[in-house]
Amino acid sequence: MISKTTIDNVFETARVEEVIGDFVQLKKSGSNMKGLSPFTDERSPSFMVSPVKQIWKDFSSGKGGNVVAFLMEHEHFTYPEAIKYLAKKYNIEIEETQQSDEQKEQANERESMYLVSEYANKFFQKRMHETDEGQAIGLSYFKERGFSPETIKKFDLGYSPDDWEVFTKAALDAGYKLEYLEKTGLTIVKENKRFDRFKGRVMFPIHSMSGRVLGFGGRILSNTKKAAKYLNSPESDIYHKSKVLYGIYYAKQAIAKEDNCYLVEGYTDVIQFHQSGIENTVSSSGTALTPEQIRLINRLTKNITVLFDGDAAGTRASLRGIDLILEQGMNVKVCPFPEGEDPDSYARANSDEDLQEFLKENSYDFITYKASLLMDEAKNDPVKKAGLIRDMVISISKIPDNIQREVYLQECSRIMDINEDVLYATLAQIENKDPKTGSQYQKKKMEVVREKETPKTKIDQLYELERKIISLLILYGREEAEFHDVLLKQNEHGEMVYESEVQQAKVFEKIFLDLQEDEIEFTNEDFKELFQLLIEKLNSEDEFGVEMIINDLEKSQAIKLTDILMEEEQYELHDWERHDIPVKKKEQGISQYVTQTILSLRRYLVERKINELVQEMKDGGSEENRTEMIQEIMSYTSLSTILSDRLGRVM
Ligand code: CTP
Ligand code: MN
Repeated sequence: MISKTTIDNVFETARVEEVIGDFVQLKKSGSNMKGLSPFTDERSPSFMVSPVKQIWKDFSSGKGGNVVAFLMEHEHFTYPEAIKYLAKKYNIEIEETQQSDEQKEQANERESMYLVSEYANKFFQKRMHETDEGQAIGLSYFKERGFSPETIKKFDLGYSPDDWEVFTKAALDAGYKLEYLEKTGLTIVKENKRFDRFKGRVMFPIHSMSGRVLGFGGRILSNTKKAAKYLNSPESDIYHKSKVLYGIYYAKQAIAKEDNCYLVEGYTDVIQFHQSGIENTVSSSGTALTPEQIRLINRLTKNITVLFDGDAAGTRASLRGIDLILEQGMNVKVCPFPEGEDPDSYARANSDEDLQEFLKENSYDFITYKASLLMDEAKNDPVKKAGLIRDMVISISKIPDNIQREVYLQECSRIMDINEDVLYATLAQIENKDPKTGSQYQKKKMEVVREKETPKTKIDQLYELERKIISLLILYGREEAEFHDVLLKQNEHGEMVYESEVQQAKVFEKIFLDLQEDEIEFTNEDFKELFQLLIEKLNSEDEFGVEMIINDLEKSQAIKLTDILMEEEQYELHDWERHDIPVKKKEQGISQYVTQTILSLRRYLVERKINELVQEMKDGGSEENRTEMIQEIMSYTSLSTILSDRLGRVM
């Protein structure tokens, strides 16, 4: 039993804000301190700590209490464990009241497991530093790996002697029970035999956030043995692999301070990074990152940078796990290492400054990186590309923040060269189909379907463009001009390149042929008839004047024609260009003006088609159907891009 004096002493010394500050990032808020609840996944802070009253309250879970209550809630400590933890943190000596054998037996099982783990930790270190075998094999191994004596000490690295039961015997002699040696996995019990699990391995103790030893990783020394390179403690009441991050105890302050966490794969990566001065580094120890592990980081910072080994396979695999991080609303960057390097080898081979520089220069925003990576893969393969869009949008759908998600969709649209609306439609589908796949925070899912920008202006673009064609026929139909156009053609290397083409023709011929080529039909009935009539006249009669046809026209057609004749010069008043309606400039040749108008009409029609398809997609459709539709939308999108490009070149 811990004495009353010790307990009083602990309560007098411990500061609730300091203790909680090791687990939760707290910011001053008036006389209180505020942070994100460590008990829920909240996004806006509702966890309050009062340094004055020495209590805390979590408004999102309703929990609260004094410093010990926090440790019991958060670390799942028992009361004595919490007191011992605080005593250790504040260097208070624990005075035990006399314990009976019975009381000893009643001592908490978990506590016993912690104690035996701590004993093992000390044992392995002692054996490494203080025996010939330990120095010759263990210590020299770590030195060869480039770890300094300080680093080896800091991480409590050790060595488990190459003997079947030297550790187990020592622990039993020191009074630890076989039961706990077995429960922690330090000893393997088979019938009446006992074996040291980590025999002949160098030891990496795994610490909790608060610094208690939970388990071990043991590395084999020779490459020749068939045994696994790393052996880890089994799952136990104190060691839950999925809830632990290697290095978190040493990294937590730096993570909060730097407001970023580097995530690596291995023990040695963490250690080497710390030695290189990058202390905000932790490792998931070779397994896929779990939500609990991410939550540990999330309490300290919103920013995470995932470092990949330099092999492509690893990259692809790791990218998949990252959606989990996005789901918790964190900002994710990725940093791929050069081929054949891992963070450990890179940090070793380069100066601290170069490492810093490398990390700075090679950390990319995850979404952007993934989009570029997928683009590279599917560069010349539209079918593949269509499939990857979904992959990409699934990642984006995990982001809880609406605005951030929108920014990423736009970015993705740019990088992958896909119409934004296609991405919105895909996102809406993902979330409609399986709300669980989408962001869990997405309550109003319709919100993601951005309202299509319906032209709010009174100007009907299509009407104006058709009218413009008619006016071109009336005003310049017979004129002969040199039409310069750029066409996308395949060259001898199979690349698509723009080639300029010069074509001598009459304006009406150019218009007629171009529209025919695209099978463009006018939508306005009056314009449709006028168009046919004008083409006929222009084609057949040598002399052509508007007065020759105007009398034959129906009233509505005549009005339109008159309008055109009267208003041509006033167009600029309407700010047409802003609405993508070409306006003839004085210095501009007729041919340019004609080409521009035709291209504008074509582009308008293509975009209208895209919108129709997107709308169709939003309205549903089967899985296969959708892929086909995405492909169709994409081919229209690239046509639209080509047309815009050509328009840009013509103007
Ligand atoms: N790991 C493991 N068991 C294995 C192999 C790997 O638990 N059999 C975990 C360890 O945490 C290891 C991490 O996965 O640190 C990364 O594995 P790997 O890249 O193979 O090891 P390194 O850390 O590079 O180890 P080393 O440099 O010591 O070879
Ligand atoms: Mn390595």
